[in-house]
Amino acid sequence: MPLPERPPLVDDDALDALERDWFGRVHGRVLEIGAGEGENFGALALDVVWTGLEPDDARRAELSIRAREWGHEQAPLAASAERIPVPDASFDAVIASYVFCTVPDPVSALAELRRVLVPGGRLVVAEHVGAPQGSAKRAVQRLATPASVRWCHGCHLDRDTERVIADAGFRAEDVRRVRARSFPLGALPILLYEGVSPA
Ligand SMILES: C[S@@+](CC[C@H](N)C(=O)[O-])C[C@H]1O[C@@H](n2cnc3c(N)ncnc32)[C@H](O)[C@@H]1O
Repeated sequence: MPLPERPPLVDDDALDALERDWFGRVHGRVLEIGAGEGENFGALALDVVWTGLEPDDARRAELSIRAREWGHEQAPLAASAERIPVPDASFDAVIASYVFCTVPDPVSALAELRRVLVPGGRLVVAEHVGAPQGSAKRAVQRLATPASVRWCHGCHLDRDTERVIADAGFRAEDVRRVRARSFPLGALPILLYEGVSPA
């Protein structure tokens, strides 16, 4: 079976612009999982009521400071995406950047995201993902993943995040695939995804 055509290679500025476009699309009550140190604040629309979730204590401390600087009142949640301490249907949208590569149990995390989203709520993610099955790049990613998990904070290089999202019942509305330069593995496949939870 022929491999799909390779997505375009983009530089850092172009990828930043794509991420800003994607994360600028969400409105209302927004949950950001694995929010790190708050890299996405500048992309968010002014009407966003932001809640962050970040399990790492040091990152969450920095995130709290930056959240206040950006005018977000709620302190980030000390929790994991697999177990989110909020009631059902609490959010209009969930965003995530470069988190599903690291989450230990993406299937449970996506079930949680469905639970905390209102029916028809938006899921918007930017993630590096596995190259097409059967490609040489995919073989390299598979070989490199144990080292990446060990040395890069649990990061898997070969996850099929788009398929896991679809299997969780989300319906894709806008999907863009690009490749970003990365060291030492060369171009890294990136998924930009916008979808909705089942109504
Ligand atoms: C590569 S960093 C990305 C941080 C940020 N989203 C960004 O784009 O700069 C991955 C983040 O996911 C967080 N993380 C790891 N396991 C997680 C989990 N089970 N649930 C939610 N976040 C998790 C890490 O603590 C880390 O902050």
